[in-house]
Amino acid sequence: MSIIETKALTKTYGRIKAVRGIDLHIEKGEIFGLLGPNGAGKTTTIGMLCTIIQPTAGSAFIAGYDIAKNPAEVRRNVGIVFQDPTLDTVLTGRENLELHARLYGISGALREKRISEMLELVDLEERSNDLTRTYSGGMRRRLELARGLLHRPAALFLDEPTLGLDPQTRARIWDYIKKMAQKEQTTVVLTTHYMEEAERVCNRVGIIDHGQIIALDEPDNLKESMGGDLVLIRAKEPPVPKIEALPYVKKVTTGAGTIEITMKDAHLHLPELLSIITAVECVEIRVPALSDVFIRLTGRDIREDSAEDSGSWVDSVARYRQRGN
Ligand SMILES: Nc1ncnc2c1ncn2[C@@H]1O[C@H](COP(=O)(O)OP(=O)(O)OP(=O)(O)O)[C@@H](O)[C@H]1O
Ligand SMILES: [Mg+2]
Repeated sequence: MSIIETKALTKTYGRIKAVRGIDLHIEKGEIFGLLGPNGAGKTTTIGMLCTIIQPTAGSAFIAGYDIAKNPAEVRRNVGIVFQDPTLDTVLTGRENLELHARLYGISGALREKRISEMLELVDLEERSNDLTRTYSGGMRRRLELARGLLHRPAALFLDEPTLGLDPQTRARIWDYIKKMAQKEQTTVVLTTHYMEEAERVCNRVGIIDHGQIIALDEPDNLKESMGGDLVLIRAKEPPVPKIEALPYVKKVTTGAGTIEITMKDAHLHLPELLSIITAVECVEIRVPALSDVFIRLTGRDIREDSAEDSGSWVDSVARYRQRGN
């Protein structure tokens, strides 16, 4: 049985189709990433699965409970870390966890045990008696993760767990998420638009755009669907037929003074490839990332605001072409 199952799950707000018929099956212990740009429908999907938002159509089940018919059971079985912070900043870290435990009816010795375990998991024991107002952004997020897991939910939903944090802190938060999922055997569904980071922690990802899942697979398989690595070489008169004959080369495209080679495992085969091309002026290897899969499927970057310098494969190729011409 899947821990999370949705069937044609849909939410409309007047004319806005926020979520358009999503089908998901997420298994126990899986870390599943819901990736998509602003307004794609990620928060709305999570909201419906946590019974905060009522679906317009379709159905969903968490640990076998119907979100429409058994909302109380669903709530007991989910933990959530919201996109916007929700800690009580006039309470200490420990008090925030105590309040949550009481709301879930966890009492006495078990409560103290769980709180200690969770504080240890996110390395906050030492600061647990300080007001959360004095915590850094990363520490607050860690406390929220601990709180989300306190009542041992079957599914933990994390909506943009690393938004607004610096790269080092983001990396630490991802480490904690991995560790927590392993230790607690919790199914985790997270949303993010940091695609490169998600592909390192997620077992599978669903790419969502305009309320629909447009691709769903293991990160490696999605990247594989891009056809391989791209090697760009600027050279005079490259021996195209010879390059095409190499067993690992899939496609060769020539431009003005440049040659684009789509191939498997460029890092392994590059020395041999270069040995047959004389007068190489410049070489660039691009290994596809999940953000390239998104661009391939939608024709645009996931972060529209940073399309100029997203570091993506396609952008880099475009820039390379401009430089080459
Ligand atoms: N309460 C609401 N009333 C009207 N429209 C809404 C409401 N909530 C969300 N929407 C719309 O639904 C769409 C999906 O929003 P949602 O918050 O789910 O996106 P998201 O993928 O979480 O985006 P972000 O990355 O910015 O958090 C957007 O067009 C949004 O404007
Ligand atoms: Mg959102």
